[in-house]
Amino acid sequence: MKRKTVLITGASSGIGKETVSYFAHKGWKVAATMRDTSRAGQLKDLPGVAIYRLDVTQPHIVDETIQKAWDDLDGIAVVINNAGYGTLGTFEGANDDQIIRQIDTNFLGTLRVIKALLPLMRERREGTIINLSSMAGRMGLPLYSLYNASKYAIEGFTESLYFEVRPFNIKVRLIEPGPVCTEFYGRSKEDIMPPDHEKYIAISQKVAHFYNITFKYASAPKVVAKTIFKAAVSKRRKLRYKPGFQVHVYLFIYRLLPLSWFQKIIRVITNI
Ligand SMILES: NC(=O)c1ccc[n+]([C@@H]2O[C@H](COP(=O)([O-])OP(=O)(O)OC[C@H]3O[C@@H](n4cnc5c(N)ncnc54)[C@H](OP(=O)(O)O)[C@@H]3O)[C@@H](O)[C@H]2O)c1
Repeated sequence: MKRKTVLITGASSGIGKETVSYFAHKGWKVAATMRDTSRAGQLKDLPGVAIYRLDVTQPHIVDETIQKAWDDLDGIAVVINNAGYGTLGTFEGANDDQIIRQIDTNFLGTLRVIKALLPLMRERREGTIINLSSMAGRMGLPLYSLYNASKYAIEGFTESLYFEVRPFNIKVRLIEPGPVCTEFYGRSKEDIMPPDHEKYIAISQKVAHFYNITFKYASAPKVVAKTIFKAAVSKRRKLRYKPGFQVHVYLFIYRLLPLSWFQKIIRVITNI
């Protein structure tokens, strides 16, 4: 890779923030983008890091910011589509706004950033597009129907994009973490209130309890940052990268067993 320049979305916290720091310490020039630049904190002081305001749900801002960062850095070799959050709760309880916002941020936001960058990368015949998927992009998990939908969409989109950008020397990657210890489970989480039905309320409580336990074994964001870096510098065409141990365990069981058995295991461990 000739240029060591990277643009990261959702850099104000969690995996995004850690990844900015990781690349900066490796000597890269980093465009750290976030929707609220007052949350940049110590990232501002890292050598080679420039902060940009970017809300992935605002198409004009995406186009302007990508072009500005491209000009400032004299090209962007790697883009990391990290901005995203999880909506948790029963689908019946979700309103239209919650449904649209989840898909708009996690899926359409990623598409907007790629659309703005692709002609520039194609012209240079160099680029790596790294999309944050999730374990939830590979298997349906209870109360994550909207989040699951957004990450499955990322998976299908990225698998297909691989073919058409390959002739231009543009690589695509999927990062599929299991649980990671970030604000995903706190400030960023959007809870859907269950409809007033005893079964929905019971499922919501049991599943919330299960996720709280899973969270105790969550990986550190640095584990994901390291994997993202590996995916960025690799010369291979490998599509999928899985940071953290939990995703390996879940995916192993998911692939090994018939789906009905896997679903039974999830029902038993979540007690639903
Ligand atoms: N944590 C996990 O267990 C886990 C597992 C698998 C995959 N992931 C994925 O990893 C990515 C990062 O999540 P995280 O765990 O680091 O959570 P996080 O700490 O909550 O970080 C999420 C980041 O996304 C940003 N964001 C949200 N909406 C945005 C928008 N419209 N425009 C621009 N930025 C926006 C947030 O910005 P604000 O600070 O402004 O809110 C924040 O910087 C997400 O795509 C998530 O789905 C996480």
